[in-house]
Amino acid sequence: MANYKVGIIIGSLGNASINRKLAGALVKLAPPNLDFVEIPIRDLPLYSYDYDADFPAVALAFKQAIKDVDAVLFVTPEYNRSIPGGLKNAIDWASRPAGTNSFTHKPSAIIGTSPGAISTALAQQHLRSILAACDSPQMMAPEAYVHFTKELISDAGEIAIPATEDFLRRFMAALASFVTRMASSA
Ligand code: FNR
Repeated sequence: MANYKVGIIIGSLGNASINRKLAGALVKLAPPNLDFVEIPIRDLPLYSYDYDADFPAVALAFKQAIKDVDAVLFVTPEYNRSIPGGLKNAIDWASRPAGTNSFTHKPSAIIGTSPGAISTALAQQHLRSILAACDSPQMMAPEAYVHFTKELISDAGEIAIPATEDFLRRFMAALASFVTRMASSA
């Protein structure tokens, strides 16, 4: 079975990010044919089209990192009922200069956690809309709105609630199937 490389983009810049914790736990639940690498967004400046004629090295490296993976998994919080500004900024960088959109035909999947009752549902819907504009084929199901509590992830970084662990293992299996399907139809 072929191995596929999945880039993880974490929507939070917080040092104690619960979405970063979730990403770490998800990697442990993934099938063995997926390899993961984080694609960081922290050092990207605020995008402007003034950069288009001469992209900074950090943005070129970001675009190259997306090119180097078979798919991107977004693990994002919800800020004010949408995605964090830093994540939108990163996607805007990736989408430019015109004609070099890094997300064109790049498969993507979305997951997120928050302590709130709707557990990032609105942020994920906004992100789906943005990725559609970027022509990224998305894993549509299962959707995963992960309700964060302090019992969810152990100190060892593992999902500590069995039903959630089972659900997230199935989410990662679905991701592996999706990436495999996308690669064979490319
Ligand atoms: C939040 N939070 C939040 N939670 C939510 O479920 N829906 C929301 O709209 C918001 N809005 C919001 C705005 C801002 C600016 C902050 C800082 C936080 C709470 C949020 O879920 C919580 O801080 C999580 O810890 C964020 O995830 P990370 O950044 O720790 O991964």
